[in-house]
Amino acid sequence: MHRSVFLVLVSTIVSYCEGYSSTFDNYLYETVLNSTECDEQLHFLVNSTLKWRFIDASAKIPSGILSGNVNDLGDYYQCLDINQHIKNMDVQGKYCTVTVPLDQVIQLPEWPDVNWPNITLPEIPRPPLDNETMRDIESYYKLRKWAMMMASLDRQVDSVEDISTRVFPMMTTAQYGPTFAICIPKVCSTKQAMDFIQDRYPFFNIEYNESFCRLPNDKPFTPADKVAITVFSIIGFLIIISTAYDCYHVFILKTETNVLHRAFSVYTNTRRFLTFKTHPGALECVDGIRAISMAWVVIGHTYALTLLGFVHNLEETLGWLRKFSSTWVNSAPLTVDTFFLLSGLLGVYTTVGKISRDRFIRVIHLFYINRLLRMFPLLATMVLLQASLLNHVSDGPFWQNVALATENCRQYWWSALLHIQNYVNSNQICLTHTWYLSVDMQLYIVCPIILLMLFGDKKIAYIALAGILLLSLVSSTLISFLYNFSAALAHPDRISEFGNYAKYYYFNTLARAPPFFVGMIFGYLLHLWKDRNIRISKINVALLWSLSFAMMAFCIFSVYPVMQLEHDAQIFDNFLNAYMRTIWSSAVGWLIFACVNGYGGPINWFLSLHMWKLPARLSYAMYLVHFPIIMIANGSWVKTHYFTNGDNLYRFMADRLLVHIPRCICFVHRHRLLKCSILYVAKTFVGRRRK
Ligand SMILES: *[C@@H]1O[C@H](CO)[C@@H](O)[C@H](O)[C@H]1NC(C)=O
Ligand SMILES: *[C@@H]1O[C@H](CO)[C@@H](O)[C@H](O)[C@H]1NC(C)=O
Ligand SMILES: *[C@@H]1O[C@H](CO)[C@@H](O)[C@H](O)[C@H]1NC(C)=O
Ligand SMILES: *[C@@H]1O[C@H](CO)[C@@H](O)[C@H](O)[C@H]1NC(C)=O
Ligand SMILES: *[C@@H]1O[C@H](CO)[C@@H](O)[C@H](O)[C@H]1NC(C)=O
Repeated sequence: MHRSVFLVLVSTIVSYCEGYSSTFDNYLYETVLNSTECDEQLHFLVNSTLKWRFIDASAKIPSGILSGNVNDLGDYYQCLDINQHIKNMDVQGKYCTVTVPLDQVIQLPEWPDVNWPNITLPEIPRPPLDNETMRDIESYYKLRKWAMMMASLDRQVDSVEDISTRVFPMMTTAQYGPTFAICIPKVCSTKQAMDFIQDRYPFFNIEYNESFCRLPNDKPFTPADKVAITVFSIIGFLIIISTAYDCYHVFILKTETNVLHRAFSVYTNTRRFLTFKTHPGALECVDGIRAISMAWVVIGHTYALTLLGFVHNLEETLGWLRKFSSTWVNSAPLTVDTFFLLSGLLGVYTTVGKISRDRFIRVIHLFYINRLLRMFPLLATMVLLQASLLNHVSDGPFWQNVALATENCRQYWWSALLHIQNYVNSNQICLTHTWYLSVDMQLYIVCPIILLMLFGDKKIAYIALAGILLLSLVSSTLISFLYNFSAALAHPDRISEFGNYAKYYYFNTLARAPPFFVGMIFGYLLHLWKDRNIRISKINVALLWSLSFAMMAFCIFSVYPVMQLEHDAQIFDNFLNAYMRTIWSSAVGWLIFACVNGYGGPINWFLSLHMWKLPARLSYAMYLVHFPIIMIANGSWVKTHYFTNGDNLYRFMADRLLVHIPRCICFVHRHRLLKCSILYVAKTFVGRRRK
């Protein structure tokens, strides 16, 4: 009895949640349709000037076809703005897109057979889509599919039921063909409108697949949004109260409040955030490495996510991928391994030597809780935002990308918070970039087993570290050589493998573990070297530096031959997949080791500069926030996008800047503006009351 009640309750909740996981109002899309009204409106439009507004907002023959641009997105907002009441009809615009399969002969219109006197009609320009351009177009659609998969947005519609329950927008394989926008009255289905057009203008007789339709206000306000608004209102309220209370105490009463009362205070938190204490034993150069690596990650994502839109100059874009000068972007995925290295390194360095082994065993729960608590608030905030409000921030013909990301989070928020996304929902990750957090957390959970052996005898420590590194290398070797993946994350010709590549290799903790354990080794070495004055001879230092540079260069530049189309040395790819990340992290490990022990010279000076401190502290926030920001910015595009280096770098700066908003607070703080204005307001307020 109890069980059945429980089951009913659970199934009600689940179905309730599922009903609201959709980010678009499918009910609205279905209910606006009315074929009688559609027929009426279409016939009316034929003889009305209003038709020009629909035609104007629809696609034409795109420009730049010869360099591969086959998409025309019309005018999204102009179409949705059409709203007129004529002859008892509500004529409103609906923005739909159709995709055209590439493998058909497209008949362009013939000139009408009219004998105008004395005019010889010119040849109809038929864009000579040669085989090479066709190949480029196909490669590009594959590449776009890759970007979709990379952003966890590749949703195949598996069955007929799927299609009937999800009216529009939907992702189908048909999404990957030339896309044209058509602006039609909202009461019409795409098919009815297209049939009407094709009847009258036979040259439109091409095969097409419906892709999606959009209407004004078709993003419903869901329970997730209500939860988000409630939670953020409460936090906002607490911030205001806490800040006011804190400032009152600090500036007026000149006393300190207790920690709990100022927990949410903007004033205290900003001050703490911007105060950098250097304590002995701090790894100064790590700040520089962290800040630069994070910038590299953001650049990589800025470039890659461009492909979620439509690239206008795709011939150039495909060429760009294989250029030597783009290597530095193509090798950006290596930075992830830098972060795994840092994670392992700091895990050891901040534990071993600081406390005894017995104490470590007693407080091991803190080892986990500390980390979870450090990561949880911001992660939970981003998951909640992505599941709700971010979907309402902007709009455009590419907005399904953001909407699908939102649906991922509505479905898998729990998996994100539990850090098990890489195994549970590897093709539908909530906040795609957080696969890294999942892998990192899983490694962190295993890490104390090794840590326990690092407290005592050096021999045991070395054996444990070498053993676990070897074990992880065996596993990465097995995975790489069994699956035969490409060594490049985005190889244009091997996109079809990407799903498995991500699932079995890229997101797989067993394949990505070596850099973490290399980090543990360097953390242990740093600990051993800390208080001792062991010198390394100049020759050895020079050798080690050269070796380290050579290893880094190898990892960065090896991606260049791999990206070439004619590349087919699978063994080399497997070798890279198995060991490249270990090689890279060893080189970076030496860099840190050398910098900390005084062998870094100008490199150490540069990486320890004060300017890296704030971005390094912000790196986690920047990491979490930059991806959704890029998605939103790209989701707001309304046209095909011209891909250039300059544009990508410019957008990269904007991505970084948006994340850097706290810097403004820093500026205000330094100029005492904030302080003065708060003081002024508080004093006038309190002073007046005293009188
Ligand atoms: C469609 O519109 C016509 C005329 O406005 C109306 O009579 C009819 O009931 C509508 N059909 C549906 C299914 O709503
Ligand atoms: C539109 O105009 C043409 C000629 O001007 C006429 O033959 C046709 O019947 C009209 N169509 C409608 C639906 O009114
Ligand atoms: C058109 O062609 C005819 C002969 O074919 C010629 O007589 C006439 O002048 C031409 N008209 C013009 C406007 O060129
Ligand atoms: C293009 O490819 C088709 C078949 O794939 C072939 O018949 C045709 O000759 C090719 N055209 C050129 C110009 O290479
Ligand atoms: C696309 O349209 C064609 C006919 O126009 C149809 O045969 C095909 O199944 C459609 N594909 C998808 C994925 O809907």
